[in-house]
Amino acid sequence: MRRPQLAGQVADVALPSDLDPQRLPAHVAVIMDGNGRWARQRGLPRVMGHRRGVETLKATLRRCSDWGIAALTAYAFSTENWSRPGDEVAFLMALFERVLARELEGLDREGVRIRFLGDLEALPEGLQTLIAQATARTAANEGIRFNVCTNYGGRRELVHAARELARQVQQGLLSPDAIDETRFAEALHTAGEPDPDLLIRTSGEYRLSNFLLWQLAYAELHITDVLWPDFGPEALAEALRDYQRRQRRFGGVEPVLS
Ligand code: IPE
Ligand code: IPE
Ligand code: MG
Repeated sequence: MRRPQLAGQVADVALPSDLDPQRLPAHVAVIMDGNGRWARQRGLPRVMGHRRGVETLKATLRRCSDWGIAALTAYAFSTENWSRPGDEVAFLMALFERVLARELEGLDREGVRIRFLGDLEALPEGLQTLIAQATARTAANEGIRFNVCTNYGGRRELVHAARELARQVQQGLLSPDAIDETRFAEALHTAGEPDPDLLIRTSGEYRLSNFLLWQLAYAELHITDVLWPDFGPEALAEALRDYQRRQRRFGGVEPVLS
């Protein structure tokens, strides 16, 4: 999918010329971290960082799409984030709902296929309804695949998959010996989505925080000190440059060309 460039628009639509379009990650995952610190540095309430973070996500999605990346998976709310103060959690839920309602039409028009990954039943009902609408409305779109991990936890996802497979075995639909890596992956929220090639984490934290524990087995990791609300075109280009400098060997001896 290509958005027509508006006349006079000074946009970063083109892939920076030092990046090789043939060697881009097909799937980028991002842990959007540092919204709170971004706000604190400015003497603002934490939630202002979340508000700005949404704008960054929107711009990053567009950029990935324009630059030829096929899938973007973003960590928006973890199963552990419920432990934050109630007013911050409530603000985030309301923000997700407001933004999705506002952006859905544009996302659909731009050909984005949106999915929400996580334990969605624990989300406020209004948000669940919107998520169902957004998923259905964009399911047949052929542009960038955009996965938003909401009430997502890697461990919870694995337990959910194990339970699902056990149920199938109990019902006589599946033999335990038929459970292999492919079958297991199909029971995850990410079913049908190839594993991320590149994981970006902002705000300088060197941890996974329970994100995509299965799927990141062979991802290249890029950690930047940039706080998520400041993650602009140069920061994304730098992550892609870093990726293109890597040799992916997948346990072998020779680099595997992607
Ligand atoms: C990431 O930013 C957004 C969410 C987890 C929802 P944070 O809110 O974690 O920001 P910091 O880490 O406190 O700076
Ligand atoms: C990870 O960020 C979760 C999201 C970005 C949604 P956190 O800020 O929650 O992670 P920790 O607490 O630093 O591990
Ligand atoms: Mg954080």
